[in-house]
Amino acid sequence: MNAIAPLTTPAVSVDIQGVNVSYGDNHVLKNVDLAIKSGEFFAFLGPSGCGKTTLLRLIAGFNQADSGSVLIGGKDISGLPPWKRDVGMVFQSYALWPHMTVARNVAFGLEERGVARDEVRRRVALALDLVGLGHLAERRPSQLSGGQQQRVAVARTVAIEPKVLLLDEPLSNLDAKMRAQVRRELRELQQRLGLTTIFVTHDQEEANTICDRIAVMNDGVIQQVGTPMELYERPANLFVANFLGTANIMAGKIVGTGRDRRFEIEGGMQIHVAETSGVPDRAKLVFRPQHARLSPAGGPSQASFSLTCDIIGREFLGSSIRYFARAGATEVAVDMPFQSSRQLFEPGTAAMLNLDYSSVLWLAE
Ligand SMILES: Nc1ncnc2c1ncn2[C@@H]1O[C@H](COP(=O)(O)OP(=O)(O)O)[C@@H](O)[C@H]1O
Ligand SMILES: [Mg+2]
Repeated sequence: MNAIAPLTTPAVSVDIQGVNVSYGDNHVLKNVDLAIKSGEFFAFLGPSGCGKTTLLRLIAGFNQADSGSVLIGGKDISGLPPWKRDVGMVFQSYALWPHMTVARNVAFGLEERGVARDEVRRRVALALDLVGLGHLAERRPSQLSGGQQQRVAVARTVAIEPKVLLLDEPLSNLDAKMRAQVRRELRELQQRLGLTTIFVTHDQEEANTICDRIAVMNDGVIQQVGTPMELYERPANLFVANFLGTANIMAGKIVGTGRDRRFEIEGGMQIHVAETSGVPDRAKLVFRPQHARLSPAGGPSQASFSLTCDIIGREFLGSSIRYFARAGATEVAVDMPFQSSRQLFEPGTAAMLNLDYSSVLWLAE
């Protein structure tokens, strides 16, 4: 791609305030509040059906909210139709015209908006150059790969010079290798244009690799907003911990009080959690595979607390080994650095699972 001056005007913020949307009895978005900063690459991340597309269409103006408002650049645009919102949306299906060339596909929206012919030609060339497709302007969509079609869809949207770019699962029709490449290109393009961009995905890796911040959604409710690392290190609840990366979750109950207060893990063992520790009453014990260490059964404890466990399997991953172990009633995954094939824990034997208070989380639903 060439170095080209940005197509767009300065970036704008997007604010969503107290939004509720229902389809009949189905309450799809529940009191959604979000503040997306100017020039930010922001993701809506959550499982299929959680309301991501509905929220994106609301910003674009294709859906109406039952209550709440959408502000772009600080101005309430809730009453405006889509074409007056300075918002461009790339649909999951691309929706290219099959009978038109690439250039005509990109020009179409501009002509509809009454842009002068010379200006249309200039913007089409610019937008196609931006996505590296200038040389394919005369092809038809059927003569392009999936990744190229996806880039035409982006070029077509960028050509209308939106202030906000909305992308609905734009990579889901591409194979794995293409996905990794196109997501890097999207990030590069977004940085170059400095365009406030909202990217919808159900794939945590996609959101983690290209977005500045993520809103994790479940069942129409924003669970947490943060950078990928913040969400991974300090998930607000069990849903977020589970959705971003592998989380071991041990259920149990609090017994005793004061200095004798303990967390009794399902299946028997107990961990001291004094009342001053801040561990809430209804919490579960959560840790990432790399935050636990295994040590030989019967040896000295190597951490704040140790649980006996049974090794039930292992996978060799090169630089590390992932062990599967059962501690009490729970199966957990533990990653250990691989040093030598002579220092392994064998399936069918017992071991100790070592954890530090500083690396475990106590989370509720
Ligand atoms: N036009 C519609 N009419 C009725 N229900 C809808 C409509 N669009 C979406 N829904 C419902 O709203 C919920 C959220 O859908 P959607 O926003 O598409 O989720 P996502 O994009 O996260 O997969 C789902 O339960 C879906 O069935
Ligand atoms: Mg969707």
